[in-house]
Amino acid sequence: MSARRHTYILPAIVIAFCAITCAPEHKEPVLKDLFSPHFLIGAAIADDVVMNEQGRDAAIVLRHYNTVTAENVMKWASIHPSWETYVFEPADRFVAFGQRHNMVIIGHTLVWHNQTDNAAFVDAQGKLLSRDAMLARLKEHITTVVGRYKGKVKGWDVVNEALTDEGPLRASLWVQTIGEDFIAKAFEFAHEADPDAELYYNDFSLDKPAKRDAVVQLVKDLQARGLRVDGVGIQGHWGMDYPTTENLEAFLTAIGALGVKVLVTEMDVDILPPAWDYQGADINARVELREELNPYPDGLPDTMQTVLANRYAELFSILVKHSRIVDRVTLWGVTDSTSWLNDWPVRGRTSYPLLFDREYKAKPAFQAVVNTARAGR
Ligand code: G3I
Repeated sequence: MSARRHTYILPAIVIAFCAITCAPEHKEPVLKDLFSPHFLIGAAIADDVVMNEQGRDAAIVLRHYNTVTAENVMKWASIHPSWETYVFEPADRFVAFGQRHNMVIIGHTLVWHNQTDNAAFVDAQGKLLSRDAMLARLKEHITTVVGRYKGKVKGWDVVNEALTDEGPLRASLWVQTIGEDFIAKAFEFAHEADPDAELYYNDFSLDKPAKRDAVVQLVKDLQARGLRVDGVGIQGHWGMDYPTTENLEAFLTAIGALGVKVLVTEMDVDILPPAWDYQGADINARVELREELNPYPDGLPDTMQTVLANRYAELFSILVKHSRIVDRVTLWGVTDSTSWLNDWPVRGRTSYPLLFDREYKAKPAFQAVVNTARAGR
Protein backbone atom coordinates (compact mmCIF):
# COMPACT_ATOMS: atom_id res chain seq x y z
CA MET A 1 0.00 0.00 0.00
CA SER A 2 1.37 3.43 -0.89
CA ALA A 3 2.26 6.02 1.76
CA ARG A 4 -0.32 8.29 0.17
CA ARG A 5 -3.16 5.84 0.81
CA HIS A 6 -2.02 5.55 4.44
CA THR A 7 -2.48 9.28 4.83
CA TYR A 8 -6.17 8.88 3.98
CA ILE A 9 -6.95 5.57 5.58
CA LEU A 10 -5.44 6.09 9.03
CA PRO A 11 -7.29 9.31 9.86
CA ALA A 12 -10.49 7.71 8.53
CA ILE A 13 -10.02 4.76 10.90
CA VAL A 14 -9.35 7.10 13.83
CA ILE A 15 -12.47 9.16 13.02
CA ALA A 16 -14.64 6.03 12.67
CA PHE A 17 -13.29 4.60 15.94
CA CYS A 18 -13.94 7.87 17.72
CA ALA A 19 -17.46 8.13 16.27
CA ILE A 20 -18.19 4.84 17.99
CA THR A 21 -16.27 5.13 21.23
CA CYS A 22 -16.37 8.91 21.78
CA ALA A 23 -20.15 9.25 21.30
CA PRO A 24 -21.61 10.86 24.42
CA GLU A 25 -23.55 7.72 25.34
CA HIS A 26 -20.26 5.80 25.79
CA LYS A 27 -18.84 7.99 28.54
CA GLU A 28 -21.29 7.73 31.39
CA PRO A 29 -21.26 5.16 34.14
CA VAL A 30 -23.46 2.20 33.29
CA LEU A 31 -26.89 2.31 34.95
CA LYS A 32 -27.48 -1.46 34.97
CA ASP A 33 -24.20 -2.04 36.81
CA LEU A 34 -24.86 0.68 39.35
CA PHE A 35 -28.39 -0.52 40.04
CA SER A 36 -27.62 -4.25 40.10
CA PRO A 37 -27.66 -4.36 43.93
CA HIS A 38 -31.07 -2.65 43.90
CA PHE A 39 -33.30 -3.59 40.96
CA LEU A 40 -33.44 -4.21 37.22
CA ILE A 41 -33.39 -1.05 35.17
CA GLY A 42 -34.74 -0.72 31.67
CA ALA A 43 -36.63 1.11 28.99
CA ALA A 44 -39.70 0.72 26.87
CA ILE A 45 -38.61 0.52 23.27
CA ALA A 46 -40.40 1.30 20.04
CA ASP A 47 -40.10 -0.82 16.92
CA ASP A 48 -37.80 1.86 15.39
CA VAL A 49 -35.22 1.15 18.09
CA VAL A 50 -35.31 -2.58 17.40
CA MET A 51 -35.19 -2.08 13.62
CA ASN A 52 -32.12 0.15 13.96
CA GLU A 53 -29.91 -1.94 16.18
CA GLN A 54 -26.79 -0.01 15.19
CA GLY A 55 -28.49 3.30 15.96
CA ARG A 56 -27.92 5.64 18.88
CA ASP A 57 -31.16 4.82 20.70
CA ALA A 58 -30.23 1.14 20.68
CA ALA A 59 -26.70 2.05 21.85
CA ILE A 60 -28.17 3.72 24.94
CA VAL A 61 -30.48 0.77 25.61
CA LEU A 62 -27.72 -1.81 25.23
CA ARG A 63 -25.24 0.11 27.36
CA HIS A 64 -27.49 1.11 30.23
CA TYR A 65 -30.43 -1.24 30.53
CA ASN A 66 -30.87 -4.91 31.36
CA THR A 67 -34.60 -5.11 30.67
CA VAL A 68 -36.82 -4.00 27.79
CA THR A 69 -40.59 -3.57 27.52
CA ALA A 70 -42.51 -3.43 24.24
CA GLU A 71 -43.85 0.12 24.05
CA ASN A 72 -46.54 -0.76 21.51
CA VAL A 73 -45.98 -3.90 19.45
CA MET A 74 -47.60 -6.38 21.84
CA LYS A 75 -50.80 -4.41 22.43
CA TRP A 76 -53.97 -6.12 21.18
CA ALA A 77 -54.47 -3.62 18.32
CA SER A 78 -50.90 -4.13 17.12
CA ILE A 79 -50.53 -7.86 17.42
CA HIS A 80 -54.17 -8.85 16.78
CA PRO A 81 -55.58 -6.01 14.65
CA SER A 82 -58.66 -7.88 13.47
CA TRP A 83 -60.29 -10.97 14.81
CA GLU A 84 -58.89 -13.19 12.05
CA THR A 85 -55.44 -11.59 11.87
CA TYR A 86 -52.35 -11.69 14.02
CA VAL A 87 -49.30 -9.58 13.11
CA PHE A 88 -46.35 -11.07 14.90
CA GLU A 89 -43.31 -9.67 13.07
CA PRO A 90 -42.69 -6.54 15.19
CA ALA A 91 -43.21 -8.46 18.46
CA ASP A 92 -40.99 -11.29 17.20
CA ARG A 93 -38.30 -8.69 16.37
CA PHE A 94 -38.62 -7.15 19.83
CA VAL A 95 -38.28 -10.52 21.58
CA ALA A 96 -35.34 -11.54 19.38
CA PHE A 97 -33.61 -8.22 20.20
CA GLY A 98 -34.01 -8.82 23.91
CA GLN A 99 -32.81 -12.40 23.62
CA ARG A 100 -29.78 -11.47 21.49
CA HIS A 101 -28.67 -9.11 24.22
CA ASN A 102 -29.58 -11.28 27.22
CA MET A 103 -32.12 -8.80 28.49
CA VAL A 104 -35.13 -9.44 30.69
CA ILE A 105 -38.07 -9.17 28.30
CA ILE A 106 -41.39 -7.74 29.46
CA GLY A 107 -44.63 -8.14 27.53
CA HIS A 108 -47.02 -5.16 27.54
CA THR A 109 -49.95 -5.76 27.58
CA LEU A 110 -52.51 -8.56 27.19
CA VAL A 111 -55.74 -6.86 28.28
CA TRP A 112 -56.49 -3.15 28.10
CA HIS A 113 -59.62 -1.11 27.42
CA ASN A 114 -57.54 0.98 24.97
CA GLN A 115 -55.82 -0.21 21.81
CA THR A 116 -58.28 -3.05 21.42
CA ASP A 117 -60.52 -2.96 18.38
CA ASN A 118 -64.15 -2.62 19.49
CA ALA A 119 -64.95 -5.27 16.88
CA ALA A 120 -63.27 -7.77 19.22
CA PHE A 121 -66.27 -7.43 21.55
CA VAL A 122 -69.14 -7.89 19.10
CA ASP A 123 -70.61 -10.57 16.88
CA ALA A 124 -71.21 -10.35 13.12
CA GLN A 125 -74.42 -8.37 13.77
CA GLY A 126 -72.58 -5.87 15.96
CA LYS A 127 -74.17 -7.21 19.17
CA LEU A 128 -72.03 -7.39 22.32
CA LEU A 129 -70.75 -10.92 22.81
CA SER A 130 -72.03 -13.12 25.61
CA ARG A 131 -69.78 -13.80 28.61
CA ASP A 132 -68.89 -17.25 27.31
CA ALA A 133 -68.13 -16.06 23.79
CA MET A 134 -65.94 -13.22 25.06
CA LEU A 135 -64.17 -15.51 27.50
CA ALA A 136 -63.36 -17.80 24.59
CA ARG A 137 -61.89 -14.82 22.66
CA LEU A 138 -59.89 -13.67 25.66
CA LYS A 139 -58.51 -17.16 26.15
CA GLU A 140 -57.66 -17.53 22.47
CA HIS A 141 -55.81 -14.20 22.42
CA ILE A 142 -53.84 -14.81 25.59
CA THR A 143 -53.03 -18.42 24.74
CA THR A 144 -51.78 -17.41 21.29
CA VAL A 145 -49.67 -14.44 22.39
CA VAL A 146 -48.27 -15.77 25.66
CA GLY A 147 -47.82 -19.22 24.12
CA ARG A 148 -45.80 -17.83 21.22
CA TYR A 149 -43.27 -16.19 23.56
CA LYS A 150 -43.33 -18.89 26.24
CA GLY A 151 -39.97 -19.14 27.98
CA LYS A 152 -38.78 -15.90 26.32
CA VAL A 153 -40.90 -13.20 27.96
CA LYS A 154 -40.12 -13.12 31.67
CA GLY A 155 -43.22 -11.26 32.76
CA TRP A 156 -46.49 -9.92 31.37
CA ASP A 157 -48.57 -6.88 32.18
CA VAL A 158 -51.60 -9.13 32.09
CA VAL A 159 -54.18 -6.43 32.69
CA ASN A 160 -53.57 -2.71 32.21
CA GLU A 161 -55.49 0.22 33.69
CA ALA A 162 -58.67 -1.58 34.72
CA LEU A 163 -59.28 0.61 37.79
CA THR A 164 -60.68 4.14 37.92
CA ASP A 165 -58.84 6.72 40.02
CA GLU A 166 -61.64 6.47 42.58
CA GLY A 167 -61.15 2.72 42.97
CA PRO A 168 -64.00 0.84 41.26
CA LEU A 169 -63.39 -0.95 37.97
CA ARG A 170 -63.87 1.03 34.75
CA ALA A 171 -67.11 0.22 32.97
CA SER A 172 -65.09 -1.12 30.04
CA LEU A 173 -66.26 -3.49 27.35
CA TRP A 174 -64.42 -6.20 29.28
CA VAL A 175 -66.69 -5.67 32.28
CA GLN A 176 -69.76 -5.31 30.06
CA THR A 177 -69.14 -8.61 28.29
CA ILE A 178 -67.36 -10.89 30.76
CA GLY A 179 -68.06 -9.21 34.07
CA GLU A 180 -65.75 -8.09 36.86
CA ASP A 181 -63.85 -11.38 36.95
CA PHE A 182 -62.31 -10.71 33.52
CA ILE A 183 -59.12 -9.85 35.41
CA ALA A 184 -59.02 -13.16 37.26
CA LYS A 185 -59.76 -15.00 34.02
CA ALA A 186 -56.95 -13.19 32.21
CA PHE A 187 -54.47 -14.18 34.94
CA GLU A 188 -55.74 -17.77 34.82
CA PHE A 189 -55.35 -18.02 31.02
CA ALA A 190 -51.91 -16.37 31.07
CA HIS A 191 -50.67 -18.81 33.69
CA GLU A 192 -51.98 -21.77 31.70
CA ALA A 193 -50.20 -20.48 28.59
CA ASP A 194 -46.83 -20.09 30.33
CA PRO A 195 -46.68 -21.44 33.88
CA ASP A 196 -43.20 -19.96 34.39
CA ALA A 197 -44.01 -16.39 33.33
CA GLU A 198 -44.41 -13.70 35.95
CA LEU A 199 -47.80 -12.02 35.89
CA TYR A 200 -48.47 -8.39 36.82
CA TYR A 201 -51.37 -5.98 37.17
CA ASN A 202 -50.34 -2.56 35.78
CA ASP A 203 -51.90 0.88 36.28
CA PHE A 204 -51.21 4.61 36.75
CA SER A 205 -51.87 6.80 39.81
CA LEU A 206 -51.68 3.81 42.15
CA ASP A 207 -50.14 6.08 44.78
CA LYS A 208 -53.53 7.75 45.25
CA PRO A 209 -55.03 6.26 48.40
CA ALA A 210 -58.38 5.16 46.90
CA LYS A 211 -56.69 3.50 43.93
CA ARG A 212 -53.99 1.98 46.16
CA ASP A 213 -56.65 0.40 48.36
CA ALA A 214 -58.44 -0.89 45.27
CA VAL A 215 -55.33 -2.53 43.85
CA VAL A 216 -54.56 -4.12 47.22
CA GLN A 217 -58.07 -5.61 47.17
CA LEU A 218 -57.60 -6.75 43.60
CA VAL A 219 -54.37 -8.61 44.41
CA LYS A 220 -55.95 -10.14 47.53
CA ASP A 221 -58.86 -11.33 45.39
CA LEU A 222 -56.50 -12.95 42.85
CA GLN A 223 -54.55 -14.57 45.68
CA ALA A 224 -57.76 -15.82 47.33
CA ARG A 225 -58.69 -17.50 44.04
CA GLY A 226 -55.36 -19.30 44.10
CA LEU A 227 -54.10 -17.49 41.01
CA ARG A 228 -50.50 -16.62 40.27
CA VAL A 229 -49.80 -12.90 40.64
CA ASP A 230 -46.20 -11.78 40.96
CA GLY A 231 -46.40 -8.06 41.12
CA VAL A 232 -48.08 -4.72 40.72
CA GLY A 233 -46.80 -2.28 38.13
CA ILE A 234 -47.09 1.35 39.11
CA GLN A 235 -46.57 3.09 35.81
CA GLY A 236 -44.68 6.08 37.17
CA HIS A 237 -45.87 8.85 34.84
CA TRP A 238 -44.90 11.33 37.49
CA GLY A 239 -44.66 15.09 37.88
CA MET A 240 -42.85 17.65 39.94
CA ASP A 241 -45.25 17.44 42.86
CA TYR A 242 -46.83 14.02 42.51
CA PRO A 243 -46.67 11.44 43.87
CA THR A 244 -45.93 12.74 47.34
CA THR A 245 -43.22 10.84 49.20
CA GLU A 246 -45.81 9.80 51.75
CA ASN A 247 -48.22 8.35 49.16
CA LEU A 248 -45.47 6.59 47.21
CA GLU A 249 -44.05 4.99 50.34
CA ALA A 250 -47.52 3.99 51.53
CA PHE A 251 -48.12 2.28 48.17
CA LEU A 252 -44.77 0.45 48.26
CA THR A 253 -45.38 -0.75 51.79
CA ALA A 254 -48.95 -1.86 51.08
CA ILE A 255 -47.92 -3.92 48.05
CA GLY A 256 -44.89 -5.33 49.87
CA ALA A 257 -47.21 -6.55 52.65
CA LEU A 258 -49.08 -8.69 50.09
CA GLY A 259 -45.88 -10.62 49.38
CA VAL A 260 -45.69 -9.49 45.74
CA LYS A 261 -43.23 -7.21 43.97
CA VAL A 262 -43.55 -3.63 42.82
CA LEU A 263 -42.47 -2.83 39.30
CA VAL A 264 -42.12 0.79 38.22
CA THR A 265 -43.14 0.05 34.66
CA GLU A 266 -43.40 3.33 32.73
CA MET A 267 -41.35 5.97 34.50
CA ASP A 268 -41.00 9.51 33.17
CA VAL A 269 -41.07 12.85 34.99
CA ASP A 270 -42.96 15.74 33.42
CA ILE A 271 -41.48 19.19 34.01
CA LEU A 272 -43.77 21.07 31.61
CA PRO A 273 -46.52 23.23 33.11
CA PRO A 274 -49.54 21.10 33.92
CA ALA A 275 -52.14 21.43 31.17
CA TRP A 276 -54.86 20.61 33.70
CA ASP A 277 -55.23 19.34 37.23
CA TYR A 278 -55.46 15.69 36.12
CA GLN A 279 -52.44 13.59 37.12
CA GLY A 280 -53.08 10.30 35.37
CA ALA A 281 -52.12 8.84 32.00
CA ASP A 282 -55.46 8.22 30.28
CA ILE A 283 -54.53 8.47 26.61
CA ASN A 284 -58.04 9.50 25.57
CA ALA A 285 -57.85 12.81 27.41
CA ARG A 286 -56.52 15.80 25.39
CA VAL A 287 -55.85 19.54 25.77
CA GLU A 288 -55.35 22.17 23.00
CA LEU A 289 -51.81 23.54 22.49
CA ARG A 290 -51.33 27.05 23.94
CA GLU A 291 -47.99 28.87 23.98
CA GLU A 292 -47.74 28.97 27.76
CA LEU A 293 -48.03 25.18 27.85
CA ASN A 294 -44.86 24.82 25.76
CA PRO A 295 -42.34 27.12 27.47
CA TYR A 296 -39.09 25.43 26.34
CA PRO A 297 -39.39 24.78 22.59
CA ASP A 298 -35.64 25.40 22.09
CA GLY A 299 -34.16 23.55 25.05
CA LEU A 300 -34.51 23.17 28.79
CA PRO A 301 -32.71 25.98 30.69
CA ASP A 302 -30.00 24.86 33.13
CA THR A 303 -32.04 25.94 36.12
CA MET A 304 -34.87 23.67 35.04
CA GLN A 305 -32.45 20.83 34.30
CA THR A 306 -31.43 21.08 37.94
CA VAL A 307 -35.04 21.10 39.12
CA LEU A 308 -35.71 17.96 37.06
CA ALA A 309 -32.52 16.30 38.31
CA ASN A 310 -33.51 16.98 41.91
CA ARG A 311 -36.94 15.48 41.35
CA TYR A 312 -35.45 12.36 39.74
CA ALA A 313 -33.07 12.09 42.71
CA GLU A 314 -35.96 12.36 45.14
CA LEU A 315 -38.00 9.66 43.40
CA PHE A 316 -35.10 7.26 42.84
CA SER A 317 -33.94 7.65 46.45
CA ILE A 318 -37.35 6.39 47.57
CA LEU A 319 -37.20 3.46 45.13
CA VAL A 320 -33.66 2.54 46.20
CA LYS A 321 -34.68 2.76 49.85
CA HIS A 322 -37.47 0.24 49.12
CA SER A 323 -35.44 -1.96 46.78
CA ARG A 324 -36.39 -5.03 48.81
CA ILE A 325 -39.87 -4.55 47.32
CA VAL A 326 -39.06 -2.79 44.04
CA ASP A 327 -37.91 -5.37 41.51
CA ARG A 328 -37.60 -3.25 38.35
CA VAL A 329 -37.66 0.34 37.16
CA THR A 330 -38.42 0.85 33.47
CA LEU A 331 -38.20 4.28 31.82
CA TRP A 332 -40.98 4.88 29.28
CA GLY A 333 -38.80 5.59 26.26
CA VAL A 334 -35.13 6.22 25.48
CA THR A 335 -34.63 9.92 24.73
CA ASP A 336 -36.78 13.02 25.14
CA SER A 337 -37.34 13.30 21.40
CA THR A 338 -39.52 10.20 21.14
CA SER A 339 -41.37 10.36 24.46
CA TRP A 340 -45.16 10.08 24.27
CA LEU A 341 -45.26 13.26 26.39
CA ASN A 342 -44.36 15.38 23.33
CA ASP A 343 -47.91 14.65 22.21
CA TRP A 344 -49.91 14.11 25.38
CA PRO A 345 -52.03 15.60 26.79
CA VAL A 346 -51.16 18.41 24.38
CA ARG A 347 -50.03 17.61 20.86
CA GLY A 348 -46.79 19.22 19.64
CA ARG A 349 -45.03 20.19 22.88
CA THR A 350 -41.28 19.85 23.47
CA SER A 351 -41.00 17.69 26.56
CA TYR A 352 -38.05 16.66 28.72
CA PRO A 353 -39.16 13.69 30.80
CA LEU A 354 -36.34 11.15 30.38
CA LEU A 355 -32.66 10.75 31.28
CA PHE A 356 -31.25 11.32 27.77
CA ASP A 357 -31.76 14.46 25.69
CA ARG A 358 -32.45 14.97 22.00
CA GLU A 359 -28.71 14.76 21.24
CA TYR A 360 -28.53 11.37 23.01
CA LYS A 361 -26.58 12.99 25.83
CA ALA A 362 -27.09 12.06 29.46
CA LYS A 363 -28.88 14.90 31.24
CA PRO A 364 -28.15 16.19 34.75
CA ALA A 365 -31.08 13.94 35.79
CA PHE A 366 -28.98 10.95 34.70
CA GLN A 367 -26.16 11.94 37.05
CA ALA A 368 -28.68 12.51 39.83
CA VAL A 369 -30.02 8.99 39.35
CA VAL A 370 -26.47 7.58 39.32
CA ASN A 371 -25.84 9.29 42.64
CA THR A 372 -28.88 7.64 44.23
CA ALA A 373 -27.61 4.19 43.21
CA ARG A 374 -24.21 4.92 44.73
CA ALA A 375 -25.66 6.40 47.91
CA GLY A 376 -27.91 3.36 48.38
CA ARG A 377 -25.13 0.78 48.38
O1 G3I B 1 -48.37 2.38 14.40
C1 G3I B 1 -49.05 3.53 13.86
C2 G3I B 1 -48.43 3.91 12.57
O2 G3I B 1 -48.66 2.90 11.65
C3 G3I B 1 -49.05 5.24 12.12
O3 G3I B 1 -48.38 5.66 10.97
C4 G3I B 1 -48.90 6.31 13.19
C5 G3I B 1 -49.58 7.62 12.80
O4 G3I B 1 -50.10 8.27 13.94
O5 G3I B 1 -49.52 5.84 14.36
C6 G3I B 1 -48.89 4.68 14.83
O6 G3I B 1 -49.48 4.26 16.01
C7 G3I B 1 -49.25 5.07 17.13
C8 G3I B 1 -48.42 4.24 18.12
O7 G3I B 1 -48.31 4.94 19.33
C9 G3I B 1 -47.01 3.95 17.60
O8 G3I B 1 -46.31 5.14 17.44
C10 G3I B 1 -50.59 5.40 17.74
O9 G3I B 1 -51.27 6.29 16.86
C11 G3I B 1 -50.42 6.04 19.09
O10 G3I B 1 -51.70 6.17 19.70
C12 G3I B 1 -49.56 5.14 19.96
O11 G3I B 1 -49.39 5.77 21.18
C13 G3I B 1 -48.96 4.93 22.23
C14 G3I B 1 -50.04 4.90 23.32
O12 G3I B 1 -49.57 4.17 24.45
C15 G3I B 1 -51.30 4.20 22.85
O13 G3I B 1 -51.04 2.85 22.58
C16 G3I B 1 -47.66 5.48 22.78
O14 G3I B 1 -46.64 5.34 21.80
C17 G3I B 1 -47.25 4.72 24.04
O15 G3I B 1 -46.14 5.35 24.63
C18 G3I B 1 -48.42 4.74 25.03
O16 G3I B 1 -48.06 3.95 26.14
C19 G3I B 1 -49.02 3.89 27.21
C20 G3I B 1 -48.94 2.52 27.85
O17 G3I B 1 -49.12 1.53 26.87
C21 G3I B 1 -49.96 2.38 28.98
N1 G3I B 1 -49.82 3.44 29.96
C22 G3I B 1 -49.82 4.80 29.40
C23 G3I B 1 -48.74 4.92 28.34
C24 G3I B 1 -48.61 6.32 27.82
O18 G3I B 1 -49.78 6.67 27.16
